[in-house]
Amino acid sequence: MSSDLSVNHLTGIKDLPERDIQLIFETADHFKEVINRPIKKVPSLRDITVANLFFENSTRTKLSFELAEKRLSADVVNFSASGSSVSKGESLTDTVNNILAMKIDMVVMRHPSPGAAVFLSQRVNSRIINAGDGAHEHPTQALLDTYSIREKFGDVAGKKIAIVGDILHSRVALSDILCLQKCGARVKVCGPQTLIPKFVTSLGVEVETDFNKALAWCDVVNMLRIQHERQDIKYFPSLREYTMQYGLTKERLNNIAKPLVVMHPGPINRGVELASDVADSENAVILNQVENGVAVRMAALYLLAQKIAR
Ligand code: CP
Repeated sequence: MSSDLSVNHLTGIKDLPERDIQLIFETADHFKEVINRPIKKVPSLRDITVANLFFENSTRTKLSFELAEKRLSADVVNFSASGSSVSKGESLTDTVNNILAMKIDMVVMRHPSPGAAVFLSQRVNSRIINAGDGAHEHPTQALLDTYSIREKFGDVAGKKIAIVGDILHSRVALSDILCLQKCGARVKVCGPQTLIPKFVTSLGVEVETDFNKALAWCDVVNMLRIQHERQDIKYFPSLREYTMQYGLTKERLNNIAKPLVVMHPGPINRGVELASDVADSENAVILNQVENGVAVRMAALYLLAQKIAR
């Protein structure tokens, strides 16, 4: 296998070949071992400066990237839209060009507009990693989700994954579908019909509105939260009814005659899509996903940094 990524930026899973995904996973295996050592730091990104530009809220992704960069010995600068000159009307290109004039090699960006990471990659002379662009893609979340399934089962090919909840507004759902399918998994989406986008069947994904049937079918269930911040109309009668139909409870899990792996990208709305005792149960790999996120992001940063002329 080649030791170079074929892409210059990580803007989405759609244009990321399967061999690049496997290279990221193999590199992440190495970094997972590194972050479990007593001395967790390696000099791989010494003299590389990374800017984390977050135009939208984040807890996990922001912390995970910053930790990954610091474990690789990069110089790190952080930017949040709140408290910046964005509120004074500065454009995305102007903000970023100002930051790049400070000689920044790599940009990790979360932005509310779909396509913002591609837009940036076509205009600035830095490596770009998309940390979530609106309801479009969240490639490192999909990579860490797929890596966590690979870790649990040894292989992703042939595994059956149900993605449940607000598929319509979820960047995680789209990136997960693309990444899991490239690695040979079968994917079903499940939720109220109003939260399933029509285009999803064109991706080769099956739709199941009966949650119990989806649970009986799958090996892994990936529970997504309702994205209230992206919903301007009502898509279901009430949260209580949503939870009754699509909330994962111990009772529902116990009715399935096999051990299911439960995933969630976070943040969890406990008691809505996931009961607290399920989130904290041995079925859940939610904190393994968080740990793997650091290793996968170290791998993506390291491999893209190999493409910077030094
Ligand atoms: N999973 C995820 O993207 O979480 P944050 O919004 O906290 O970064």
